[in-house]
Amino acid sequence: MKKWVYFFDEAAAAEKSVGGSWDGVRGLLGGKGAGLFDMTRAGVPVPPGFTLTTQACNEFRRTGKFPPGMWGQALAALKQVEKRTGKKFGSSSNPLLVSCRSGAKFSMPGMMNTILNIGLNDEVVEGLSRLTNNPRFAWDSYRRLIEMFGATVFGLDDEVFEHPMGEHKKKKGYQLDTEMTAEDWKALVGIFKVEYKKHIGEDFPQDVYKQLELATQAVFESWMGKRAVDYRRATGISDDLGTAVNIVTMVFGNMGFDSGTGVAFTRNPSTGEKTMMGEYLLNAQGEDVVAGIRNADPIANLSTHMPKVYEQFMKITSRLEKHYTDMQDVEFTIERGKLWMLQTRNGKRTAKAIVKIAVDMANEGLISKADAVRRVTPDDVDTLLHPQFDDAARKKSEVLAKGVNASPGAAVGQIYFDADTAEKMAKEGKQDVIMVRPFTKPDDVHGMIASKGILTSEGGATSHAAVVARQFGIPAVVGASAMKIDMERRLMIIGEKTITEGEWMSVDGATG
Ligand SMILES: Nc1ncnc2c1ncn2[C@@H]1O[C@H](COP(=O)(O)OP(=O)(O)O)[C@@H](O)[C@H]1O
Ligand SMILES: [Mg+2]
Repeated sequence: MKKWVYFFDEAAAAEKSVGGSWDGVRGLLGGKGAGLFDMTRAGVPVPPGFTLTTQACNEFRRTGKFPPGMWGQALAALKQVEKRTGKKFGSSSNPLLVSCRSGAKFSMPGMMNTILNIGLNDEVVEGLSRLTNNPRFAWDSYRRLIEMFGATVFGLDDEVFEHPMGEHKKKKGYQLDTEMTAEDWKALVGIFKVEYKKHIGEDFPQDVYKQLELATQAVFESWMGKRAVDYRRATGISDDLGTAVNIVTMVFGNMGFDSGTGVAFTRNPSTGEKTMMGEYLLNAQGEDVVAGIRNADPIANLSTHMPKVYEQFMKITSRLEKHYTDMQDVEFTIERGKLWMLQTRNGKRTAKAIVKIAVDMANEGLISKADAVRRVTPDDVDTLLHPQFDDAARKKSEVLAKGVNASPGAAVGQIYFDADTAEKMAKEGKQDVIMVRPFTKPDDVHGMIASKGILTSEGGATSHAAVVARQFGIPAVVGASAMKIDMERRLMIIGEKTITEGEWMSVDGATG
């Protein structure tokens, strides 16, 4: 029978089945899965688990059902996990909980689904609470499961659960989730179950195998979710690849203040500097860091909080960098002082960081000079030639209108509505000028060249304005159709706002 399921320590078998190439393994197991297999093989602490292949996902998409044999293999693998961990799925005396994680060949961060804490129900939660002597942790985990399950499997809006949680916190006068007690979480689980039934028409499933099955289906289905499809369109990733599903033994960062969760880049992804950059939260789980529900600590603080763990973490991540010969973006969890690695991948970075890291790695002897050069694409060079807004500035700014990001770079200046005036203000008035037009023509080029930025209300990425802007390295946004330009009155109207000639404005040619 076809093998649909691979255990994390079966890297060799997975390699063999795709003819030996690591690229093939990434295709079969997804990038996240391949990383987990690789780390397991290297002796890095990864919680035991297994991966359902992208082929299984594609079969599921084709037929609407799991392929014959797949679920049986998954259940057998789950038995293996039980053996290795000494825990039992669905048992209330020593429960095994798992996560069900998406992971395609190319990383699509946040575009598909993951459900944590699968295996909890009304009985298991009591057992977990007794076993750990930590009811707060057990009830917190259970409410997270109901939340993620509802959102992922049935597409419930976040508000369905966020709202009652906000109300509860307000009633109690709490600011932070960490102020919630065991009793609070338990009360919330009750409320969540009522909301769940109200919206879905049935009770939250108490059968833990049903939970796992529905979660797996939902992750497969998330491959064709709108978010994922849009992301693939924008990045040129093929629809045919499918996502793998990784079933991973849960480790808990929310067991108290000797536990935590975090994410880190092995080098600075915005400047490329060779310093670990990351954040962690104590007594928290999964995406709490990314979701920003509390202020996270910079990773350097871990060296005082938990020096041993920090040292081990630095060793592991430096090994991973050497192994992949690239900057890594990692996720980790600390459960009662023990470090677990949950993900590693080549980190996304700015053009500036691409160059700096490539040069540094060549100097460190990690890669050859030729490799370093190959890592910088013409697009990266293009972006580098233009000044950029940083993300903090982007967040703070008020967006007036959106258009096509025709030519990358940042520009700030006073706006003028024709080429002659634009040129005059730039040359004689020594102003920084943004030229604003409905569209541009060859006659306008002199004004464009004199400007710091270009903005049009019509046209697309291949319009005259766009082509010229790129040719001369001038930041430009074109086709910002919300702008109504009134040449006679020398002003433009965007929604309720009127902006007159000479006012200041900024153009972000990188984002549009
Ligand atoms: N078995 C597990 N134990 C603890 N945390 C987990 C487990 N599986 C996933 N997580 C955490 O949950 C979050 C989301 O999981 P992940 O599958 O990596 O989603 P994404 O692809 O969106 O990053 C991450 O912070 C991850 O580290
Ligand atoms: Mg992740």
